[in-house]
Amino acid sequence: MSTIAFDRYKPLQDDACQERILAARARLGQRAVILGHHYQRADVYRHADLTGDSLRLSKLAVQTDAQYIVFCGVHFMAEVADILSKPEQKVILPDLSAGCSMADMASLAKVERAWRELKQVLDPDQAVTPVTYINSAADIKAFCGEHGGIVCTSSNARQILDWSFSRREKVLFFPDQHLGRWTGYLMNIPLSEMLVWDPDQEMGGLTAQQIKMAKILLWKGHCSVHQMFQAQHILRWRQQNPSGMVISHPECNFEVCKLSDYVGSTDYIIKTIAASAPGSRWLVGTELNLVNRIAEEFKPQGKVVQFMASTVCMCSTMQRIDPQHLAWALENLAEGKIINQITVPPHEAKLARIALDRMLAVS
Ligand code: 13P
Ligand code: SF4
Repeated sequence: MSTIAFDRYKPLQDDACQERILAARARLGQRAVILGHHYQRADVYRHADLTGDSLRLSKLAVQTDAQYIVFCGVHFMAEVADILSKPEQKVILPDLSAGCSMADMASLAKVERAWRELKQVLDPDQAVTPVTYINSAADIKAFCGEHGGIVCTSSNARQILDWSFSRREKVLFFPDQHLGRWTGYLMNIPLSEMLVWDPDQEMGGLTAQQIKMAKILLWKGHCSVHQMFQAQHILRWRQQNPSGMVISHPECNFEVCKLSDYVGSTDYIIKTIAASAPGSRWLVGTELNLVNRIAEEFKPQGKVVQFMASTVCMCSTMQRIDPQHLAWALENLAEGKIINQITVPPHEAKLARIALDRMLAVS
């Protein structure tokens, strides 16, 4: 049975897709669940049955019984859903090119090379817990599963590092140096004991002595969206809004996190602003779709929610899940045709699941 080609959806206007998405959704009924990350554009997000940050979405993937999990998010999230869901369930990513540029900054080859290089200085399987941020490919999670390591998200990184240090004296944290540094800072680890591991340099660009004294080796990776937020944005805003509050995602750089009143995951950002007093003013350092949505949602309560940067900072890869791709995926499913299924190879999935299960047990 041949699938319906995407070419037929390309010329559709965004609005024209809405009715088709709803109709396909109705035909699918309970057979499909749509999971949506908070950064999805509004005309996709409104179709999500369940929404959340990365941690919540991975828990939802375990809980759902739907035959099809349509993931409006990015590739690593759909991989996690495939690993954690039941074997008979199928995970669909409406556009396969919806990746995460940060996840791409740690390849398995480079992580394995780092592990080999560490062996010249210490025994990493005894001394180092590999911790991967959930924003990473399944093979990286499998590496962690195999080497006594674990996965973390922006909402449980502290608990995960506590777990890691209770087992081994050091952590190799990848791919986001900023989340790793901020979490270590909250645990009172001196900045001088958190050193950047540059995967493009021999021995990460560090000496044997530096590796021996480091508590956390921070992979030189980052999110390009969150690097747009700068300390000067906060300082300027505070001059005009002395009683306002600043909240940022921990993928922001260290200075931004330090200057913020609150730092946390996308779920945490939403909940914190929701719980704030009517009339409060907020500056928010995270992706624009989310900030625009909460600005609208909380406007009736007199809350003013402003975006931190002066330029547009959208996650361009999340943005690839547009109404055309969602309509395409759902109409195919309604016809019993599966497109863009995400399938993690069984051996990799088994090892990655060990690291994910460790995370779910800890958080
Ligand atoms: P959250 O888990 O906080 O939703 O973050 C995911 C992400 O990719 C942020 O850039
Ligand atoms: Fe990846 Fe950054 Fe997009 Fe999050 S915002 S999915 S870290 S590129």
